[in-house]
Amino acid sequence: MDAFVSWNKTDAGTFDSTRSPVSWFTVLVIGVSSTMLAVSCLWQYRDSSLPLVNPNRWLEFTTQRVRAEWMKNAKALIGSGIRKFSNKPFNIMAADVGLTTILPPEYADEIRNNPNLSFVEFMAHLFFSNLPGFEPTREGMFENDIGIVVIQKYLTSLAKMISPLSEEARAALLEIYPQDQEWQTIDLKAANLALVARLSSRIFLGRELCRNRDWLRITVEYTVDLMIAAERLRHVPGPLRRLVHWWLPEAQKLRAEVKQAGDIIRPVLEHRRKEKATLSAQGQPPIEYDDAIDWFEQIATSRARKYDPEIVQLFLSTVAIHTTNDLLTVTLLDIARHPEIIPMLREEISRVVQADQWKKTALHDMQLMDSVLKESLRMKPIGIVSMRRVATSPVTLSDGTRLAKGTKLAVSSHKMWDPDTYPSPDTWDGYRFMRLRSGNPQGTGPAVQSKEAMLVNTSENHLGFGHGKHGCPGRFFSASELKVALAHILANFDIRIPEGYTVNHRITGASYYADPLARLEVRRRDTPAL
Ligand code: HEM
Ligand SMILES: *[C@@H]1O[C@H](CO)[C@@H](O)[C@H](O)[C@H]1NC(C)=O
Ligand SMILES: *[C@@H]1O[C@H](CO)[C@@H](O)[C@H](O)[C@H]1NC(C)=O
Repeated sequence: MDAFVSWNKTDAGTFDSTRSPVSWFTVLVIGVSSTMLAVSCLWQYRDSSLPLVNPNRWLEFTTQRVRAEWMKNAKALIGSGIRKFSNKPFNIMAADVGLTTILPPEYADEIRNNPNLSFVEFMAHLFFSNLPGFEPTREGMFENDIGIVVIQKYLTSLAKMISPLSEEARAALLEIYPQDQEWQTIDLKAANLALVARLSSRIFLGRELCRNRDWLRITVEYTVDLMIAAERLRHVPGPLRRLVHWWLPEAQKLRAEVKQAGDIIRPVLEHRRKEKATLSAQGQPPIEYDDAIDWFEQIATSRARKYDPEIVQLFLSTVAIHTTNDLLTVTLLDIARHPEIIPMLREEISRVVQADQWKKTALHDMQLMDSVLKESLRMKPIGIVSMRRVATSPVTLSDGTRLAKGTKLAVSSHKMWDPDTYPSPDTWDGYRFMRLRSGNPQGTGPAVQSKEAMLVNTSENHLGFGHGKHGCPGRFFSASELKVALAHILANFDIRIPEGYTVNHRITGASYYADPLARLEVRRRDTPAL
């Protein structure tokens, strides 16, 4: 369209109406181009009879304006669709993957285990998984499921992770957070990103590699660079992407990072394979490293599957690190804005960690911390919609709605901010889920089943980790990592919001980000409890 408009403009500048009253060629070109644009625009709406909340205007032949509106105003648009179409499915033109069917939260349970709705296929659309450099987003897809299998099988044995996570948190905080006993302001997102990268890498790659500076840089930067490269490619017309990506600097950067990751991880894996062969020749059992390098090797061997060790590790990086950092940042800001809860949290921490020893049941026993995290995730999840899926076969919903093969859909998360579900939804209440746990949400009324109050529970009321078959498998690990990190931070540091700073989380399209300018004042405590 841009090209079309500018061509038209320059042409008009030299156009002499007295000498050639009508250029038939111009009319023809305009006619053909606008017909093609209109057809391609309408083509996106084929197969769907659902109403559209952000249609094109009369004679508006591209979706540029509606896409820009989605980037700025997705939350209000979805809210208006929910009201206008009386809580029934409707369509929205989204800027990232195009036409998307929005389902109200009440549909979450119905679709949650539908085998014909794929999350990875959606990710593949969003992140061009078939291109070199983008492979980590393909991991977990179709037959390539060792990433998810490893998370489900190994990243759920949490008790034995407490000790390495705690050791790493102590060491990392000494390096990352200032040690002054005077107040110091920190760039909260950057500091927490470094912390989460260390903690996650400790479990994914073991003690040595988790302190490797090159790895720490790649594990953090790859995800950001992936977002940038994907966004860049979205502006390239579909059929050209397979070619153009070779020359895009953003895509070249991704390929370089994948290669660097391989240079770091492959020698370690090779060494372990040799060591294992030697030991096995001597009739001895292999050394257990108990990190994800080992787990991928075990699962892949047991399935006789080839895999790239750097790809599966970068897959873990993309799903695990920025997501967890976001919740850590948001939670710390919420706690700092409600300092009255800090003594209670510290009391809980000292109950579960005594004389530097974490109780086996510590993670389970940190019920207030669990409630605080769930409340912060309720108010600011990573998206205003959840359960994004692609229909891999036609699906008919119980209300008769037909979703054609290829339909992209998402479930609105707005119940998380609905006063009928959560009284005073705009007020952060660290005890909210703690009360729900005891079966008594408002102090009166019927008892609620306690399980729903846990951070790792998913339901239509709280879609912070998605829901169902493709609900986040990493949430158990994330919950543990966050509890250990927060325990170390709160036990060792006083925190407060810097004067003049106002928290400002951002919504862009369907994504919801912790304030990129987040600041926190921290001060080392002189009587550290941990
Ligand atoms: C606070 C941190 C995290 C948040 C808020 C989060 C959130 C989510 C959400 C909303 C989804 C989509 C679920 C759905 O559509 O039903 C998801 C999927 C996923 N998450 Fe997480 N996540 C977090 C941490 C992690 C971690 C630490 C890992 C890995 C160790 C992980 C691995 C995954 C994977 C593999 C999927 C795709 C599951 C599938 O396709 O079946 N996540 N996550
Ligand atoms: C999934 O798709 C298959 C093939 O089209 C169909 O037979 C099956 O009934 C569908 N299942 C559900 C739950 O929609
Ligand atoms: C969440 O809690 C509800 C209510 O107790 C329970 O029925 C459901 O199975 C739980 N779901 C998950 C995924 O833990």
